[in-house]
Amino acid sequence: MEAMGVLMTYPMSSYLEQRLQNRFTLFRLWNLPNKTHFFNHNAHNIQAVVGSTHIGADRELIDSLPALEIVSSFSVGLDKVDLAYCKEKGIRVTNTPDVLTDDVADTAIGLILATLRRICEGDRFVRSGLWKKDEFKLSVKFSGKKVGILGLGRIGTAIAKRAESFNCSISYHSRLEKPESKYKYYPSVIKLASNCDILVVACALTEQTRHIINREVIDALGPKGVLVNIGRGAHVDERELVSALVEGRLAGAGLDVFEHEPQVPEELFGLDNVVVLPHVASSTVETEMAMADLVVGNLEAHFLKNPLLTPVV
Ligand code: DGY
Repeated sequence: MEAMGVLMTYPMSSYLEQRLQNRFTLFRLWNLPNKTHFFNHNAHNIQAVVGSTHIGADRELIDSLPALEIVSSFSVGLDKVDLAYCKEKGIRVTNTPDVLTDDVADTAIGLILATLRRICEGDRFVRSGLWKKDEFKLSVKFSGKKVGILGLGRIGTAIAKRAESFNCSISYHSRLEKPESKYKYYPSVIKLASNCDILVVACALTEQTRHIINREVIDALGPKGVLVNIGRGAHVDERELVSALVEGRLAGAGLDVFEHEPQVPEELFGLDNVVVLPHVASSTVETEMAMADLVVGNLEAHFLKNPLLTPVV
């Protein structure tokens, strides 16, 4: 298998990098001094791309690799992979579902608690010595709140289960109602937002869900509502989110993802009702290894002509 060329697009995990290096001929896209020279000399020797949430496999990259057979993404979300084009060209695509579900759902609950209970703000209050001079302000209770989930897939369902243990009532919106689900379904995201205290974005990013959280939805969530996003930044119209937070039309936000990562709108830095994370919902030691093992397992299965472990295309 050492003869197989694998192009890694981004330095996503040193454990993964090591595993790929031990098993295949590994090329690192971010390390190339001269990309044109590299592609002219090596493109024909690359059978696989390992992409991330930052750089996947767009049409341009796919077209520059004539021997490409498979894209194995180190992520569950595949918005950075041109799935339709892969399908058209017969290129297989895999992702890393299930192994990261718990961590992403845990992070969603963490963001809810951190935002409502002002956990990061309280930490800053103690560290800065302000506690010696002042009382910390009251926060907002999480237990018993109405949680709305946009996208009741694996991750959305795991968030719902966790929120249930806080005695929250759960409702959701997704493309199709899930008849087997016990949670209340709303046929539109606006209806969902109007009927919850905390709206959690947990769906896949597609052309249909880009900017699904727009001004109308934010206004429907209202000045007591909190938005939590562990999906993709582009689900949210970020300019509208920032202005709603600055103008007090939304109570707060817990955000793991942003529209133009790693750029984060600077207006958010001055807001105590906002908790920001650097897209790390699945980034634990355990899950990073499990995701990496799945990426390598999919590549091995493909090159051995075995069934893929987690095929998408
Ligand atoms: C993924 O893997 O797509 C997610 O960004 C994890 O948070």
